[in-house]
Amino acid sequence: MELFDVYPLYDITPVTGDGCYVFDENGKKYLDLYGGHAVISIGHAHPNYVKAIQDQVAKLGFYSNSIKNPLQQELADKLEKVSGVQDYSLFLCSSGAEANENALKVASFHTGKDRVIYFENAFHGRTSGVVAITDNDSIKAPFNLGHKATKLTFNNINALKAEIEKGDVAAVIFEVIQGVGGLDEAESEFYKTAAEICKENKVMLIADEVQSGYGRTGDFFAFQKHGIRPDIISMAKGMGNGFPIGGILIDNNVEPKYGMLGTTFGGNHLACAAGISVLDVIAEEKLMKNTAEVSEYAMAEAVKIPEIKKIKGRGLMIGLEFDFEIAALRKELLFEHKVFTGASSNKKLLRILPPLNIKKEHFEVFFHAIKEVLKNQEHKALKSS
Ligand SMILES: Cc1ncc(COP(=O)(O)O)c(C=O)c1O
Repeated sequence: MELFDVYPLYDITPVTGDGCYVFDENGKKYLDLYGGHAVISIGHAHPNYVKAIQDQVAKLGFYSNSIKNPLQQELADKLEKVSGVQDYSLFLCSSGAEANENALKVASFHTGKDRVIYFENAFHGRTSGVVAITDNDSIKAPFNLGHKATKLTFNNINALKAEIEKGDVAAVIFEVIQGVGGLDEAESEFYKTAAEICKENKVMLIADEVQSGYGRTGDFFAFQKHGIRPDIISMAKGMGNGFPIGGILIDNNVEPKYGMLGTTFGGNHLACAAGISVLDVIAEEKLMKNTAEVSEYAMAEAVKIPEIKKIKGRGLMIGLEFDFEIAALRKELLFEHKVFTGASSNKKLLRILPPLNIKKEHFEVFFHAIKEVLKNQEHKALKSS
């Protein structure tokens, strides 16, 4: 049987991982500055994480959500402590798209309304409702177009206010820092005013922290820098360090009722063990502090490279924008220098999303490699590619 061919693949087969590195079947070592798309938060094969999952699967890997699972409460308590956010309840699921689908559903149940506002360049996932609020028409099937969704320009508060005042909006959803879209972040003023307008009009504000959350920016959630309180926060990627787990934090003002949300796999024993271990490592190894420190170093080094025209993002969610398309540069970093990096819908932007326990030495390797590529490949040739 063939695999349904939906992913363009690099001809590389990682088989093991260790911290910030992955190794292919021939033992070739690759520096992972992509974190498997912002997923690897505490590093590949972290020993505490491996042990936690091994121990749990040997005891009980799964049972349904019809029984008591104290691991879910342990995860919720640890999440509250490590993130510093309070007066929310946790609903667990298994992916970022599922988290956002549930966020939209809660908002629609709670407000009784059905229209959702999203922003230009947004990416919220590929399932039915969330692909409708993703700014990429090429990934929407006719079936996905039935949702009531309105796209607005990011950072334009007047447009947002006018749309909300029409009275039929259930939710406004935004990525605090846009990931796939290219690392844009609006002003604090925009987020604050948006939150006020939502509150006045009983519209739910949903922060999609699937990529920017879990310590990636040096804060636990990226919205925390802006002094706002979203009604719902969605999470996934870094939450399980590769184990499929997602979730939403829902303001305690929202009343739950049986059947309102549900899932077979969400919050299972193994996923919780992975999630708890991730939070323990983030706290014990002070990974948010490390993120802020290493990021400062990386940003300062990036400034010294004249070909980098703009540095975007925060923490270890970094975008390096060149004045040429970076596909060839990225390929050479990977195949010649064995460094994984990411791309985005902005073809000139190189995306850096490493494990949060990365060290300055790893970035030294990266900057050396990037200088070599720029030198050797005569970036005039790159510019025309
Ligand atoms: C901000 C954001 N939201 C949602 C998603 C969807 O997550 P998943 O692929 O786990 O469904 C992504 C994935 O890249 C994302 O970056």
